Amino acid sequence: MIPNELASASRAGLIVRENQPPNLESPFELLGDLLTPNYLFYVRSHFPVPQLDARTHQVQLTGAVRNPFTIACEELRAMPSETRIATLECAGNGRVFLVPSVEGVQWQSGAVGTAEWTGVPLSALIDRAGLREQAIEIVFKGADRGVPKETPAPPGEIIYARSIPLSKAGDVLVAYAMNGEDLAPDHGYPLRALVPGHYGMASVKWLTAIHVATRPFQGYFQTTDYAWWKEDAAGNPERVPLGEMSLKSQIARPQIDEPIAAGSRYRVVGAAWSACNVDSVEFSDDDGQTWHQAQFLDPVHPGVWRRWQFDWQVPSTPGRRILRSRARDSEGTLQPSEHNKRFGTYVIHHVLPVRVMIHICDCGSMLE
Ligand code: MTE
Repeated sequence: MIPNELASASRAGLIVRENQPPNLESPFELLGDLLTPNYLFYVRSHFPVPQLDARTHQVQLTGAVRNPFTIACEELRAMPSETRIATLECAGNGRVFLVPSVEGVQWQSGAVGTAEWTGVPLSALIDRAGLREQAIEIVFKGADRGVPKETPAPPGEIIYARSIPLSKAGDVLVAYAMNGEDLAPDHGYPLRALVPGHYGMASVKWLTAIHVATRPFQGYFQTTDYAWWKEDAAGNPERVPLGEMSLKSQIARPQIDEPIAAGSRYRVVGAAWSACNVDSVEFSDDDGQTWHQAQFLDPVHPGVWRRWQFDWQVPSTPGRRILRSRARDSEGTLQPSEHNKRFGTYVIHHVLPVRVMIHICDCGSMLE
C-alpha cells in the first residue's frame, strides 16, 4: 500500500485548484526539459483517489473477445514492455481565459505536461483475448467512484470510464511507470491507460477493467461530460465525445503581468503541441499585428510538445504590451484566434494574450 503521506508529499510545488479531489496545476512558467518532472505534473481527478495495492491489483479483459481473462498487475509488469513519450493535456486547460467566465476547475496554462510512459501495449492484451468481429470500441474503467459535481449529474455514484475507437487501440499502453518511476497514486497507481494524442480524459487512471464493446459507449464521461456539439452532414448538432488534442501553443515565460526592462533582450520560451505534427510557431509582441518565427528546441513527434524560444528585442518605450504565440501544423492549419463555442468549456486552444509591463529600469543606480 502506498501511504497517504507519500501522495501528499508529491503535491508540493503544484498550484492547488481543488483540494478534494486533488486537482493540481503545474506552474507552466517553470517549463524546462522536454519531460515534466513527476512532482510538477498536473493532476486531474473527478473522485477521491482510490487506495490500491499493486501486489493484489488485477485487471479484467471482458466483452467481445474469445478468451476473457483477468491478469494480476505483477503478471502484467512481467510482460514485454514499451516506453513512449506523450504529452497529456486536460481538455479544460486554459478555462480561466474564457470570457464570460464559466464553471469548472479554473485551469490557467498548466493542465498539461509531457512524460515518458512505460507499460504493456494494449494490443498484446487484446491479442491474448482474441477480438471478435463485432468489436468497435475499447472501454477503460477506473477504480474511483463518486457523484460528479457538475449538473446534470447521474442519480447515484458512478465510476470513471471512457472509451476509444478500436482503430486507436494500437497506440495505447497499459502503463505502470512515468518517467522511470512507479505511477504515483494521483497519477493512477498501479495501472492506467495511456492514450497518446488524445486529451487526458481518455487516459483512464486506476485501471480495473478493459471492456471490448460492440456499441458506442454511452457513459457519463463519454456523452454528458467531455463531449461536444459537432455538426452532422445535414447541419444538425450531434453530441460526440472529445478525442484528439487540438493544435495549441502557449507562452511559459514571460508570465502574465511580468515586469520587463525596456530595451533589454528577453528569451521568450513556450511549447506547442497537437495530435499531429507541429510545423511552426510564431511570436508577436504587438497583440498579433506582426509575427516572427520562433525556433524549436525539440524535433517533430506527433502527440509530443515541441518547446520553442524567441530572442525578443524588448521595445525601449515603457507601457503595457500584449504578447501572443501561434502554431501551425503539418496540414497548414493555424491555431484559431477565437474559442469555438461548440466545445463549451473544453478545447480552449485559441491564441491567448500574455500582458506584460515594460518599464524603464535604472539598474545601474540600484547597484551603487
Ligand atoms: N481516470 C480516472 N479513473 N479518474 C479521473 O478522474 N481524469 C482524467 C484522466 N483519467 C481521470 C482519469 C482526466 S480528465 C485527465 S486530464 C487525466 O486523467 C489527468 O491525468 P493526471 O492526473 O495523471 O495528470
